[in-house]
Amino acid sequence: MKKITIRDIQKFKDDETPFATITAYDYISARNADAVDIPLLLVGDSAAMVVYGMENTIPISMDELIFLVRAVYRGTEQALVVADMPFMSYQASVEDAVRNAGRFVKEGGAGAVKLEGGSPYVSQIRAIIDAGIPVMGHVGLLPQSFHLSSGYRIQGKTKLEAEKIYEDAISVQKNGAFAVVLEGIPADLATKITAALDIPTIGIGAGPDCDGQIQVYHDILGLYGDLMPKHTKRYGNLGTDIQNKLAEYKKEVEVKKFPSQKHFITSKVQPIKTY
Ligand code: KIV
Repeated sequence: MKKITIRDIQKFKDDETPFATITAYDYISARNADAVDIPLLLVGDSAAMVVYGMENTIPISMDELIFLVRAVYRGTEQALVVADMPFMSYQASVEDAVRNAGRFVKEGGAGAVKLEGGSPYVSQIRAIIDAGIPVMGHVGLLPQSFHLSSGYRIQGKTKLEAEKIYEDAISVQKNGAFAVVLEGIPADLATKITAALDIPTIGIGAGPDCDGQIQVYHDILGLYGDLMPKHTKRYGNLGTDIQNKLAEYKKEVEVKKFPSQKHFITSKVQPIKTY
């Protein structure tokens, strides 16, 4: 099966074809998304919350993410796997950025990396690309700047903020990113940025006019109840379904309904030979 490349992602924009992308964190979520031809899987640092149960995305480490990237890569036949650079894996220096992006590709099997922030990180973006690794940008609401922005708040509501986000998106493109995530910004700003850029925009809480959309796997399937972002649509309630099934299993064990005859074997008793 042909692997999706960054050229295929660009083609969605060129053909004006809206496309869905999603996060994935393990072999099974990757297999499920790949089975329905979702072309790009992001191993997001949102894993900090939905996989590791951390309070926000700040504490997750490179090592904690690399394990997940490798599992997603193994579960993927065609989707492009993008690894999310965690907090402090690229901010401090260009060397850190290149080395850590390289680990995602070499140890994890990722085909690209994503990093949060626009203009302040163009040197990192440029250097990672120079090392042969495609980069996806991420502007607007930046979850790794949780403390600076006093929590998760929509960005770009004032003229000044909107201009900064617009400039960030432009500079991410100028420095070679193959796509850019627009998170938590007013829809009209996302429309303007999408029209101005040649590379695809991928929106989350950024309205309907982005070239593609991205959502967190656990959010749309109802697997994570701690936070319900406004931008999420629940397509299922798998968390409740799983709990119901587990309760059924528990009950059946307690009343000795499981295991039943078909779930075990009995060794055949050999007749004892006598003379
Ligand atoms: O970490 C993540 O899952 C993300 C997406 C939601 C864009 O950055």
